[in-house]
Amino acid sequence: MIEQLYVNEEVKILTLAQKLKLDTTTTHDSLDKTIMTKRPFADLDRYALFLAVQYRFHLAIAPLYCNPGLLCLFADLPERARLSHLEKDLLDLNVDLNDMKAQIRLPDIGYPASLGWLYVCEGSNLGAEYLLKAAKRIGLSEKFGATHLAPAAIGRGQSWKAFTTALNAIELTHEKQILAIDGARDAFSLVRSAVDSVFE
Ligand code: HEM
Repeated sequence: MIEQLYVNEEVKILTLAQKLKLDTTTTHDSLDKTIMTKRPFADLDRYALFLAVQYRFHLAIAPLYCNPGLLCLFADLPERARLSHLEKDLLDLNVDLNDMKAQIRLPDIGYPASLGWLYVCEGSNLGAEYLLKAAKRIGLSEKFGATHLAPAAIGRGQSWKAFTTALNAIELTHEKQILAIDGARDAFSLVRSAVDSVFE
């Protein structure tokens, strides 16, 4: 009984970022493994497919990075947006963007689900250190072909800390937190579908 109370207390004091992580860790790990089985860093052609997956995701969430309501909560959102980096990376690899844009259906993301989508996107940059190392082994860099995997000027850790601090400062009811978590699940689902369709 005491143990039970203790556990409940622990759950109650989790921050939103911690809840998002707890709820999506299994999904993340399964996605990570699936992507790696597709050998996205085997050569430039495979890497271009990985970029196509990333592009679908970043195109879907780009409107959030200039959403006035979200800008009040995260002032540095415009600097965090990576869609233009992805466009450059695709052009570096001579991939036609117009062909790609035509195939993508954009989701309608409302608030507070948008907080979960942002969590997934910003978190993916934290884990991108490993991906950038793999990209470098096939001749790419933060300046060519893999600019979207580069860390923020203040560093990945600091950038993540600033984002989660702002996220955790937002006052949300329990119900709204659930909607934010649903948003993170939807974000991972979109990436998962993109992996399945792009890598066939
Ligand atoms: C092969 C692909 C991937 C690998 C190897 C990978 C690896 C990692 C690693 C190592 C971390 C922890 C970083 C740290 O704590 O310092 C991480 C965090 C994270 N990654 Fe990935 N990742 C991959 C793909 C993705 C994708 C495609 C997404 C979503 C679009 C994503 C979303 C996240 C999120 C949200 C976190 C933060 C989790 C948290 O601490 O709350 N990852 N990833």
